[in-house]
Amino acid sequence: MGRKKLLVGNWKMNKTILEAEVFAKASLDLSAFAEQREIEIGVCPTFLGLKTVKEINPKLIVGAQNCSEFDHGAYTGEIAIPMLKEIGINWCLVGHSERRSYYGETNEHCNAKIKALIAADMVPLYCVGETLDQFEKGETKAVVEEQIRIGLSGLSADDVRNLVVAYEPVWSIGTGKNASKEIAQDVCGYIRKLLRASFGENAEKIRILYGGSVKPVNVKEYLSEPDIDGALVGGASLAVESFRELIANIGE
Ligand code: PGA
Repeated sequence: MGRKKLLVGNWKMNKTILEAEVFAKASLDLSAFAEQREIEIGVCPTFLGLKTVKEINPKLIVGAQNCSEFDHGAYTGEIAIPMLKEIGINWCLVGHSERRSYYGETNEHCNAKIKALIAADMVPLYCVGETLDQFEKGETKAVVEEQIRIGLSGLSADDVRNLVVAYEPVWSIGTGKNASKEIAQDVCGYIRKLLRASFGENAEKIRILYGGSVKPVNVKEYLSEPDIDGALVGGASLAVESFRELIANIGE
């Protein structure tokens, strides 16, 4: 056990390089504050902001929001894993719901990216979650089961030692409609059970985050649940002040 709490900000398509630089400078204090509280923190800027943020605050986890499953080649508009590694980036989101719904990413694409990231010794932060329609039809667990089964297929118990999973119900992302802590724990507990079935004891080491309208006022309730080890935060991660409040409100 002993999973360290983790707070990751997903900036999506926000912040120019200059704006990212302002945040990165202010984040030096945030890192010290989080360290005192034994919380790991990170942000996922756009590709353009990665290098600047990492250079200014090497203590911050800095993740890309996406990557190609291919190493190089004729894939216009894509960014390859060796390019991320070259600038010191070791984390990457995979399968965020906006990638799935706007850019057609499937569980199979996610599987290829996760395998490529693991082969490069990087940390994949794999996002899963159901749409409103699927939630209303009671299909949440079936959807998540398929996302986990296909997304992580072909991986060994050793492969997943650095994996992080985020459960983000699509209907709660950017909507202010949170999943209750009971729903969030129920699904995160179910994800842990699936991970245990595939990877045995190593499932206890995998951090599972909740995401979807996490704010300073509600962050603590999620993190008090046994299978929720942290949060993936969009809107509330953009301003340094609210990031600080998220850390403060998680508590000791
Ligand atoms: P939100 O986004 O916190 O703005 O709801 C979460 C996410 O998309 O990861």
